[in-house]
Amino acid sequence: MTSPFIIAIDGPAAAGKGTLSRLIAEHYGFHHLDTGLTYRAVAKALLDAGLPLDDETVAEKMAIEMELAGLDRSVLAQHHIGEAASKIAVMPAVRRALVAAQRKFATKKPGTVLDGRDIGTVVCPDATIKLYVTASPEVRARRRYDEIVGGGGAAVFDEVFSDVKKRDERDMGRADSPLKPADDAHLLDTSEMSIDAAFRAACDLIDVALKKD
Ligand code: DC
Repeated sequence: MTSPFIIAIDGPAAAGKGTLSRLIAEHYGFHHLDTGLTYRAVAKALLDAGLPLDDETVAEKMAIEMELAGLDRSVLAQHHIGEAASKIAVMPAVRRALVAAQRKFATKKPGTVLDGRDIGTVVCPDATIKLYVTASPEVRARRRYDEIVGGGGAAVFDEVFSDVKKRDERDMGRADSPLKPADDAHLLDTSEMSIDAAFRAACDLIDVALKKD
């Protein structure tokens, strides 16, 4: 196997790619970067400092200063941080700075799993294998709703559903690096799959790519 081995995992919000990526990284003993956290960390830094979300120069500075070490979804998971992340993610200068950090991470040995929206198309176009993990908007909204309610929170399904659709529009509709499957990505629709089944399907594809490499 040539090193480093890069597994690129893209897909829309709440498709289950975070859980899947963690399981895959653990299974193969690879480093994992959830690139959504890099956008969320910049958004949180701006919000905490009371800075505007629409000033590209200010956001770029925060993106350059962003540290990969210590990124933690538990402090970046809040809904308003995700919304803010989706807004600053349309800025080319922010993307440039974060993509540079993500590419550096991707060189770690023996291999890496990066998940996000543009890994297979922009960050690591030469990745050893690319997966595009998706599910219908209804299923994704249902999973997100169950997660919130299961965690003791309150949610209205129709609002969660409308948020999922809004987030898709923003992520797929932006001019710079819109969310879309790379031409050579393997599509994994998890609408009718358990996480275990999705994990097994992903490993079957990855094992084939590992043997070829
Ligand atoms: O996956 P997530 O919800 O943590 O991502 C938050 C936002 O960050 C998402 O709406 C779009 C943006 N993002 C991106 O533009 N590119 C990535 N590679 C990862 C996330």
